[in-house]
Amino acid sequence: MKFFNNNIAIIGAGNLGKSIAQGFVNSNAVKGNQLIVTRRKLNLLEELSSFNINITNDNKQAVKFADIIIISVQPKQLRGVLSEIKEVLTDYKIIISTVTGVSIENIQSVIGNSKKVFRAMPNTAISIMQSMTCVCTNVKNEIDTQKVLDLFGVLGRSLLIEEQRMASATVLAASGIAFSLRYIRAVTQAGIEVGFDARDAQLIASQTVLGSAMLLLESGEHPEKEIDKVTTPLGCTIAGLNEMEHMGFSSSLIKGITTSYKKIASISKDFSDKE
Ligand SMILES: NC(=O)c1ccc[n+]([C@@H]2O[C@H](COP(=O)([O-])OP(=O)(O)OC[C@H]3O[C@@H](n4cnc5c(N)ncnc54)[C@H](OP(=O)(O)O)[C@@H]3O)[C@@H](O)[C@H]2O)c1
Repeated sequence: MKFFNNNIAIIGAGNLGKSIAQGFVNSNAVKGNQLIVTRRKLNLLEELSSFNINITNDNKQAVKFADIIIISVQPKQLRGVLSEIKEVLTDYKIIISTVTGVSIENIQSVIGNSKKVFRAMPNTAISIMQSMTCVCTNVKNEIDTQKVLDLFGVLGRSLLIEEQRMASATVLAASGIAFSLRYIRAVTQAGIEVGFDARDAQLIASQTVLGSAMLLLESGEHPEKEIDKVTTPLGCTIAGLNEMEHMGFSSSLIKGITTSYKKIASISKDFSDKE
């Protein structure tokens, strides 16, 4: 297991920021006392104190403490946070923004071009170290880039992508959690119709999705190769699968994902808005 010596600040510990902090503690890659997390409503962070994590509502104090600063506020809150911490951001610190739709160029327009800026797009499974996190940067230093990939690597899997693919990563990996969970819910409902109670149906649906994903992650095979193994000619699986396709299964997923993608384009303008 990898261990990081760096101190890490998480500015804006809401749903995602708190999940990242929990993930780090659960991974043992970072000790609680190497972490400092901030939000304005400090009382909502008290639960993190029990993990020895430092909490504060002073963003500058957090930045001074840390070598790596993860910013996880809403797009319209980012400009204010960057302006506030700018004077304590030294050039050696690594800044990672998880904020949707705000470019590295936008961020550098506030804090300057000499800073090391990364964007990361994780999902909420980061709290249990099962995130898919896409990372982009314009930092040329491979050691820094590898450090950021390793950091998110202990919290699941990480992938370096071009910045122009960040919106696509957002809908596939971050929104993707909701899409996958809705699939599991639908299968659970069907499971009840065919005789299981809700708890057993959900267990079967969830573990089956996990197993399917692991088959692909471990083999790197195309899904259809695994599907061929379970679709006996004249059998029940192919009959069900084809009925799903007649009802628009793949088409509805593709349309839903491309609709989310189009929607994301409207978010980036929020960076210029005030909260
Ligand atoms: N949720 C996801 O799955 C996910 C995945 C990938 C990316 N993202 C992106 O990550 C960002 C955070 O998402 P989220 O779902 O965690 O949002 P969220 O729950 O609204 O969290 C934002 C947090 O920022 C805090 N905050 C706002 N202004 C602050 C300031 N000046 N100083 C310190 N803290 C401040 C807020 O707390 P106070 O009001 O108490 O300050 C709040 O807890 C968003 O840009 C989102 O698009 C989210």
